[in-house]
Amino acid sequence: MTDSGIESLLQEDRLFPPSDEFAAQANAQAKVYDEGDDDFVAYWTRQALERITWFKEPTETLDDSNAPFFKWWADGELNIAYNCLDRHLETGGDKVAYHWIGEPGDTRTITYQQLSDDVNRFANGLRSLGVEKGDKVAIYMGMVPELAVAMLACARIGAPHSVIFGGFSAESIIDRVVDQDAKVLITCDGAWRRGSTIPLKDNCDTAMESTPSIEHCIVYERTKQDISMTEGRDVWWHDLVADQSTNCEPEVMGAEDLLYILYTSGTTAKPKGIMHTTGGYITGAVTTHSLVFDIKPETDVYWCAADIGWVTGHTYIVYGPLANHTTSVMYEGTPDYPEKDRLWSIVEEYGVTILYTAPTAIRAFMKWGAEYPKSRDLSSLRLLGSVGEPINPEAWMWYHEHIGSSNCPIVDTWWQTETGSIMISPLPGVTTTKPGSATKAIPGIAAEVVDKAGVPVPLGSGGFLTITKPWPAMLRSIYGDDDRYISTYWSEYEGRYFAGDGAKIDEDGYLWILGRVDDVMNISGHRISTMEVESALVSHPAVAESAVVGAADSLTGQAIVAFVTLRRGFEDSDDLNDELRKHVAIKIGAIARPKSIIFTPDLPKTRSGKIMRRLLRDISENRSLGDITTLANAEIVSAIASQAEALRSED
Ligand code: PRX
Repeated sequence: MTDSGIESLLQEDRLFPPSDEFAAQANAQAKVYDEGDDDFVAYWTRQALERITWFKEPTETLDDSNAPFFKWWADGELNIAYNCLDRHLETGGDKVAYHWIGEPGDTRTITYQQLSDDVNRFANGLRSLGVEKGDKVAIYMGMVPELAVAMLACARIGAPHSVIFGGFSAESIIDRVVDQDAKVLITCDGAWRRGSTIPLKDNCDTAMESTPSIEHCIVYERTKQDISMTEGRDVWWHDLVADQSTNCEPEVMGAEDLLYILYTSGTTAKPKGIMHTTGGYITGAVTTHSLVFDIKPETDVYWCAADIGWVTGHTYIVYGPLANHTTSVMYEGTPDYPEKDRLWSIVEEYGVTILYTAPTAIRAFMKWGAEYPKSRDLSSLRLLGSVGEPINPEAWMWYHEHIGSSNCPIVDTWWQTETGSIMISPLPGVTTTKPGSATKAIPGIAAEVVDKAGVPVPLGSGGFLTITKPWPAMLRSIYGDDDRYISTYWSEYEGRYFAGDGAKIDEDGYLWILGRVDDVMNISGHRISTMEVESALVSHPAVAESAVVGAADSLTGQAIVAFVTLRRGFEDSDDLNDELRKHVAIKIGAIARPKSIIFTPDLPKTRSGKIMRRLLRDISENRSLGDITTLANAEIVSAIASQAEALRSED
């Protein structure tokens, strides 16, 4: 063990080299590694010039004079919607952009021409409401094609969008809208979820009581549920676009103009508005989408089964695939509705060739059983991807055998909201994979594992994952908080971007991501901050103090365990337990609902008053506790531990 304090005992010896057949046809050949390593700025600039259509080609490349506020191709001019749509229309307007499948079973086939018409009409609609370049637009919708239309329309007129995941609560909308002073909020009446509906517009109504910056709320009709519309403020999508033309002049955007803000959890309760700009982001998206997923626009049917509300959907459902003129599948619902074979029936029906999903989903498929995929013809699949959290070797093998029929390469892709595009991943056709390892940085990206002092660890050791060179799709800052940008990402290790993850580098130089090292949990592949859940709990009148940890969970990766101290006059009870869990779901969203709550008269604290979360994590995961004599209140630990034990035996 190095002095990083991170150790990985996992030993994995299975190797999966690419087949000759796959290697021969792969977009990425071994020489791209050399090209990326030789001169990373020249490599990325070549990608930018070859893969992107510029209104004005850049003459500048990487500007690192004001690090860590890096700029890429700052004097270039382009429009991303133009790159995703217009440039494909002359020869490929009839090509399908999205095969969309609604949860209730309705379907739509949307060509590039139709998508372009919809985007132009909606962009004109936004302009008619007074939205101009630089105005912020918040989007809170389900997985309908109009979500992509809304994003592209914003990109077309230069209005930065901020998509808020449809599973978040009204309070989460408020935080995000207020932080950026969004002018318009786009939503749906509701969203389908396992046969019932989520009241998206009602949530917006609640939120808009506290968001004075919102001038208009545009509502797309999806579920036809009852909603109220406020005269003058609320506008139906179909009314807004009814008389609009399908021609909307794209705004000429500077490469460093803001494309979107996407909020993500950090170690404080306040979400961080991650800023992505135009030229660098689209270059990263298009290049990685082509090389990592080996996209053949003519023949592939590609499916990223994520939600557009997360960065995975931004980059690999909307921007990367469209700019690469890909045919994608987009699915509105959950994998187990109406039956647990839903994904596999879609793969069979549409002949999906590339599937990109998350370990949490793969573990659920494993639990449901191999008979579901077996009952369908999955022979069209040729490549599988994984993202969001470490994939256990067992899950990797199951994915390989039961979904990939043992003949599809698997790309385990490590990246973050902040990185914008894939950073560490095999290149299918080049890289020999090891189940559970994201393998190596892709060409043009430089990753190193370092110890506490910032010194690269020797092969075979664990430490902290850092990125040592800037990359095009990197975040530019945290919206409104440059200091937090510097302190969160660039202060831990001089000259390095610190990702917040632990990693091990093995004897072959392969990277094994070990998960977060800060107080951020990873629930089903989504980052939730312990602080956010704690703040939500403490906002309940019964709660005096709380500490939240992510405990290992065989299905969701981590599960939220909350330790709660009640205010005087309140008694713990099953009802209060339910109420608190519900309270968190209302405050943040169902994804943050604690799996269990442990009531305790006190929390274990150091003598300086710091809550010992690491100890609580050990308790939650039933590990031995080691030395606790430095605690101010050591006696509380055994009481909490026996409660946790009692809860486990109830499970
Ligand atoms: O801990 C890492 C984990 O997800 C975090 C980023 O979360 P988010 O910004 O929500 O983006 C998720 C999708 C890009 C990382 O810091 N993570 C992501 N991909 C992997 C992963 N952990 C292990 N292996 C991965 N392939």
